[in-house]
Amino acid sequence: KSSTVISFVCRGTLVHSTPEEALQVLEDALLGVNSDGKIAFIERGEELQKLSQIFGFDPSAVTQLEQHEFLMPGMIDTHIHASQYSYSGTALDMPLLQWLNNYTFPVESRFKDLEFANKVYTQVVKRTLRNGTTTACYFATIHTDASLLLGQIANDFGQRALVGKVCMDRNDFVKHYKETSQESQDETYRFIKELLSKKYPLVKPVVTPRFAPSCTEALLAQLGAIAKNNNLHIQSHISENLEEVELVKQLFPKSGSYTDIYNKCNLLTDKTVMAHGCHLSDEELALFRETGAALSHCPNSNISLCSGVLDVRNVLNHKVKLGLGTDVAGGYSSSMLDAVRRALDSSKVLTIQDPKHKTLTFEEVFRLATLGGSQALSLDEQTGNFEVGKDFDALRVNVAAPGGPIDLIEDENPKVLLEKFLNLGDDRNIMEVFVAGRKVVPLKKP
Ligand code: GUN
Ligand code: ZN
Repeated sequence: KSSTVISFVCRGTLVHSTPEEALQVLEDALLGVNSDGKIAFIERGEELQKLSQIFGFDPSAVTQLEQHEFLMPGMIDTHIHASQYSYSGTALDMPLLQWLNNYTFPVESRFKDLEFANKVYTQVVKRTLRNGTTTACYFATIHTDASLLLGQIANDFGQRALVGKVCMDRNDFVKHYKETSQESQDETYRFIKELLSKKYPLVKPVVTPRFAPSCTEALLAQLGAIAKNNNLHIQSHISENLEEVELVKQLFPKSGSYTDIYNKCNLLTDKTVMAHGCHLSDEELALFRETGAALSHCPNSNISLCSGVLDVRNVLNHKVKLGLGTDVAGGYSSSMLDAVRRALDSSKVLTIQDPKHKTLTFEEVFRLATLGGSQALSLDEQTGNFEVGKDFDALRVNVAAPGGPIDLIEDENPKVLLEKFLNLGDDRNIMEVFVAGRKVVPLKKP
């Protein structure tokens, strides 16, 4: 008999990824969650009587999944700008640097106003949760108080989140939207200290230099030191667009490569995630591998801003950790299902250009959206797949949800159900979302 207290047991089909298998299907499985929100057991359905005795739960209280339903791990958005949600779906007619100056910086300046911040941040957290994002790695803005508010809102709605107060001490275009390097450093300390003092169980600070062109080398080095001394996560952008790569060469003439700049400033660690990386060389990818730093692949953004097409296969061959990101609002969709589809499309574009290119499979992209994301954020001990001891972060998916977007003509096997959901599904198919064992969708009023 176990002393673990079981709070929830579910019986039905589980789909998830492991390091060995991009898609593992467990039919008629039993999954138990303990009162700490962790997975207590995963066993075969026929073991119900035995397990109910060992763990002391009522076998008649087990939640039975319906036909066409399965449980999958919650999706992990490894790169999303919460502050850009208000204009998502618009302003996609310029390349990166012009887009930043004309749309992004003016909107981000508005987050000095906490009322505006509260509106936007509440909506983005609610929307991403309903879309099945159980973990989000957020950029906020340079404003510390609004960034703290984002942490509070994620905590209130029960989303697992890394939250970054953006740091930038260079901005030649929107001159008021920047800090001095001293302010940036002091406010980063204040942000980290205050966020940690709230003791939110699922929300962590992440050190966030915007990207090399927005930061002096002195600031990058200071932020690297803060992250190192406090063992914190780091996020930024790298090698997204060719004009940006050229600009970095001009601004940092002594550096060997874009990756080199971050590395020299101690910003490449096994808790680092860098968005994009479309134009990295193989030498730079090797440096990612060596340092344990990860990439976030944001295909919607890469296409929407005409930035480039990341060769994910090449990144995987270099054994660099990789997750998927929406990059709202350079990417116009806040749904990780969209990121999955764009990742598959981008891989197919590479195959059109070179038939020898090995196209990503839907199973591989499913892994990137779940386990890969947790690895990229160094959260794979807590989340990413169904393993005993990990937190229960999960979606209950009904592929044939009434009023939903998918028509099933005949019964289908779980692999086909997953493929249909990934390609055709939306939030109408996501019946429930759990984070650390707590039901967070249908949304609760905080
Ligand atoms: N590079 C620096 N800042 C940004 C941003 O806000 N969005 C994108 N896509 N790239 C960036
Ligand atoms: Zn971004």
